[in-house]
Amino acid sequence: MSEVAHKKASILVLISGNGSNLQALIDSSKSGKIPGNITHVVSSSSKAYGLERAANSNIPTTVHELKTYYKGIPKENKEERAIARSKFNQDLVELITTKIKPDLIVCAGWMLILSADFLKPLSEAHIPIINLHPALPGYFEGTHAIERSWEAGQRGEVTKGGCMIHYVIEEVDMGEPLVVKEIDVIKGETVEKWEERIHALEHNAIVEGTIEVIKCLNEKQK
Ligand code: GAR
Repeated sequence: MSEVAHKKASILVLISGNGSNLQALIDSSKSGKIPGNITHVVSSSSKAYGLERAANSNIPTTVHELKTYYKGIPKENKEERAIARSKFNQDLVELITTKIKPDLIVCAGWMLILSADFLKPLSEAHIPIINLHPALPGYFEGTHAIERSWEAGQRGEVTKGGCMIHYVIEEVDMGEPLVVKEIDVIKGETVEKWEERIHALEHNAIVEGTIEVIKCLNEKQK
């Protein structure tokens, strides 16, 4: 046999909200387009609709909320909050590396910053992690990127927008891009329409990025 047979990759998806990108991954995994199975979903919010999407496809879920860790610590107490945040990261990475043990992690609308105390143990465990950023490389890092790119477009400061899938590094939304998709700014377009067009791009980009990482993993196994 010349072809190397690969087992299907196990994918952990991190979400915080609606989960339309999770749905794109679920659908592409079910259709066989992605050579992998979504084996677990972790949500940073118990209210995320994505949890229902996962449950509808019988995918196990875990809710891992920062507010549980911040409970009783006043906002002004920066030191205690930093310790709590670090514990949140450590518990999450421990859950991933000792219990879920995925082949790769996809952040699909995960809204929390992942710092070194989370990323280093993952890298040591050789678990790649990618993220979806709703803007082009080098643009609008951080939250509300869709609204900010729309405003910049309408002001004439940019002529294009889009989304990218990139490897996660400590610098927020700045890792090496794996997939980049662009759309042109349309003068006078509503932010709702702009958002709709970005989401349509994202649903393809996240699937393509995930397939790319699985290909890389399979290459390494050869
Ligand atoms: C997507 O637009 C994604 O790009 C964005 O959140 C949305 C999640 O939608 N992610 C970020 O802004 C990450 N900083 P979804 O829950 O429907 O997949």
